[in-house]
Amino acid sequence: MDKQKDYATPARKSDKQVTLEIDGQQVTVPAGTSLIHAAMVAGISIPKLCATDSLEPFGSCRLCLVEIEGRRGLPASCTTPVDEGLKVHTQSKKLADVRRGVMELYISDHPLDCLTCATNGDCELQDMAGAVGLREVRYGYEGDNHLNAEKDESNPYFTFDPSKCIVCSRCVRACEETQGTFALTIEGRGFESKVAAGINDFMDSECVSCGACVAACPTATLMEKSVIEQGLPEHSVTTTCAYCGVGCSFNAEMRGEEVVRMVPNKNGGANHGHSCVKGRFAWGYTTHKDRMTKPMIRKSIQDPWQEVSWDEAINYAASEITRIQTKYGKHSAGAITSSRCTNEEVYVVQKLVRAVFGTNNVDTCARVCHSPTGYGLKQTLGESAGTQTFDSVMKSDVIMIIGANPTDGHPVFGSQMKRRLREGAKLIIADPRAIDLVSSPHVKADYHLKLRPGTNVALISAMAHVVVTEGLVDEDFVKERCEWDSFVVWRDFVAKPQNSPEALAEELGIKAEEIRAAARLFATGGNSAIYYGLGVTEHSQGSTMVMGIANLAMATGNLGREGVGVNPLRGQNNVQGSCDMGSMPHEFTGYRHVSDAAARSLFERAWGRPLSSEPGLRIPNMLDLAGEGGFKALYCNGEDIAQSDPNTQHVTHALESMECVIVQDLFLNETAMYAHVFLPGASFLEKSGTFTNAERRISPVRRVMTPKNGGKEDWEITAMLSKALGYPMNYNSAWDILDEIAELTPTFKGVSQQKLDELGSVQWPCNDEHPSGTPTMHIDEFVRGKGKFFITEYVPTTEKVNAKYPLILTTGRILSQYNVGAQTRRTNNVAWHTEDRVEIHPHDAEDRGIKENDWVGINSRAGQTVLRAKITERVQPGVIYTTFHHPESGANVITTDNSDWATNCPEFKVTAVQVTRVSQLSDWQRNYQEFSEEQIGFAQIASEQAAQ
Ligand code: SF4
Ligand code: SF4
Ligand code: SF4
Ligand code: FES
Repeated sequence: MDKQKDYATPARKSDKQVTLEIDGQQVTVPAGTSLIHAAMVAGISIPKLCATDSLEPFGSCRLCLVEIEGRRGLPASCTTPVDEGLKVHTQSKKLADVRRGVMELYISDHPLDCLTCATNGDCELQDMAGAVGLREVRYGYEGDNHLNAEKDESNPYFTFDPSKCIVCSRCVRACEETQGTFALTIEGRGFESKVAAGINDFMDSECVSCGACVAACPTATLMEKSVIEQGLPEHSVTTTCAYCGVGCSFNAEMRGEEVVRMVPNKNGGANHGHSCVKGRFAWGYTTHKDRMTKPMIRKSIQDPWQEVSWDEAINYAASEITRIQTKYGKHSAGAITSSRCTNEEVYVVQKLVRAVFGTNNVDTCARVCHSPTGYGLKQTLGESAGTQTFDSVMKSDVIMIIGANPTDGHPVFGSQMKRRLREGAKLIIADPRAIDLVSSPHVKADYHLKLRPGTNVALISAMAHVVVTEGLVDEDFVKERCEWDSFVVWRDFVAKPQNSPEALAEELGIKAEEIRAAARLFATGGNSAIYYGLGVTEHSQGSTMVMGIANLAMATGNLGREGVGVNPLRGQNNVQGSCDMGSMPHEFTGYRHVSDAAARSLFERAWGRPLSSEPGLRIPNMLDLAGEGGFKALYCNGEDIAQSDPNTQHVTHALESMECVIVQDLFLNETAMYAHVFLPGASFLEKSGTFTNAERRISPVRRVMTPKNGGKEDWEITAMLSKALGYPMNYNSAWDILDEIAELTPTFKGVSQQKLDELGSVQWPCNDEHPSGTPTMHIDEFVRGKGKFFITEYVPTTEKVNAKYPLILTTGRILSQYNVGAQTRRTNNVAWHTEDRVEIHPHDAEDRGIKENDWVGINSRAGQTVLRAKITERVQPGVIYTTFHHPESGANVITTDNSDWATNCPEFKVTAVQVTRVSQLSDWQRNYQEFSEEQIGFAQIASEQAAQ
């Protein structure tokens, strides 16, 4: 199996090129490059142990010594930079003797169990012993050694076996430099020195299980347990993580059709060889026993399931859709696509709905997360996407994070951001809760604006007020790049006294002076970039806030170059892609409105069917109408609305009211419990296609194993349904679908399987003008021409606290779990998060007699649920917080139907509640337990009957 090449030290960038001679060979590299790196460029390997190209050189092992003509001694080639005209020799008898001596010392304190070692054949120590020609070890094992040091098996995914450690410190440096967690240290000195994770073990330490130390370790000391159990991989396939919007590239290292490990790809455009615990280790769900692999049907949700053939299931689903549309009209059916699916899968579902169902009733789960981003950025800048590449953050001087928690939600980007912050960039955080970045090793927020949930728009107006009234506007930028008239109207609006920090301080719960200082820093600190998440969008004024953010960036000239920009951190892997692919009811691919006659006729010609010019139903409209009896058939592809959408009881009532719910998924998820047809889907390891991450990066997903559902990729299942409805879709693979998308979508015109194979990934727009993609948008002009300012009047949410509901509940996610948890709950990640708990400030807890771990009833206007309490000052008084990764928690039983005025994105982040100590689960939870046990039983009956 080809290994990723290791250049020993990081590549350097410089305008100056340096030419030198290594072993008689001329090589030219950028100034600042190390000798060992230059040698690798010339194809010359120098033995090394403590150096690796993901880390800064350390110079401790003394194996990489070289001779330089005219210089005394034997310098370490990893810490010596190139110089013009140097003549370097990497091989000589003297060097060989020194290197052998060094290796001999290492090996004399290393177990010689290579033949039975899990990494036999994939160990740098073993390779180096061979490379330096070590044949014998003169020192015996009689003296002091570390051969009996105890293993640390506490981490579920990797082993730490200190008997094999050579104390090269690569793991410690990986944890610091790459991950930014600082969980490891070298304790003691000399012979006593050893790697230590916290006081006890890895699980007890600050370690977040990102795997960077495991990847960096040159020996079998830090080792994936999967490799120990399964053996070394034989081949590898490059693919893309299916979890979050960072979109990390991985090499799936395989034995036959079994994944042995996922190794982050050094050439990954979004991750540069780094990973988090989810992508690196949490792929076990793909082979979990709960995977549904057989199609099933039933007449009613009170009936047990019946396992049937693919043809029978598809024909039944098609006949039900036809029956329902004939009886209730074509608009009584629709579909929901998922941001977990590939672009190609999403595309064929929306095509099915528009061309075959004959309606535009298709929506995506982005409705409940980033739909305000699409709307707000389109209005102001002209394109519904983030403006930067992740690497852009390395050129930021001021980073402002609003309503996002990058180290938990977007961990690999969070690590990159931390690196920039350690280099000295300033940090402003606007969040009701103290996220990790507020204070973590070597990173401290300059300002933590602890605003009250629901007051974002007031904050952005107050900051804009400071910029406008203190003369901090970048007038040149605004005059040249923006609609001046819209700027003047906006400027006059934000300058009003009612928008001053002083006027809004009480509403926000932040001191006016702090707001002023943060605004000044943002406007004058150099390159200022805004990163935001669902804490911005999931509000009744989500779209207003997105526009407010764009206004502030335009007014301060922070758009159109590296280091600045407006950057939505998309939650799921393909939120950007599912929106790009036309899965909203009013838009075709590339955000062209269905009422646009030219766009519509383009699709009509390509698809050979008349298309409706009327926008279809959004998810909340579908659910409302279903409850009223007007919406009867839903094709739900990879999405779990019964857990992820607000006001659970409203959602489940809607599902119960439908006559045909078709669920396509890996597991019998919460929505499937209300379904009549279950179509087993394929995991990301079982299919091909593309995902588009938060920086518009289209990355390939490549099939590494046969789908467990009988060999069907998800697009094939949709195509089967389409054929059964009389409209064959003639694709041979996902790549054919990508070709059709490229043909019909100007921003995707240059994207193809071949382009992705060549470049690894590409950021749209990718077309004739930008054949290699577009890392930074809006460079010379905005996509809409001139940037447009919008008035952002602050309208407080109608979800008010009062005597009955005096606290505000807000929600978020945690590093180890992913969204509804359907995948991560079926992996060893549960070791970090076994249940959702409610965080409550000590004062609020004391007032209510609540102690740590007590069961707490949370009541809102929508419902009640019960969770265990976690008492913490991370939340401010008056605010409680929970995650929503476990269905039985019922976090969405309490969230309300309130939503963003423009896009209907639910107001997940503000729910007025009361909490009290209780002794038993809520009625909803007890009913849920009973119902879900019954439904799981129905599926078990199906598989038992099929086995008879
Ligand atoms: S655990 Fe591995 S990387 Fe860390 S010091 Fe030991 S040998 Fe080096
Ligand atoms: S797994 Fe990551 S966080 Fe944990 S010790 Fe290793 S590098 Fe640090
Ligand atoms: S979950 Fe996100 S950050 Fe973690 S490996 Fe996957 S894409 Fe990367
Ligand atoms: S590799 Fe250069 S000193 Fe270790």
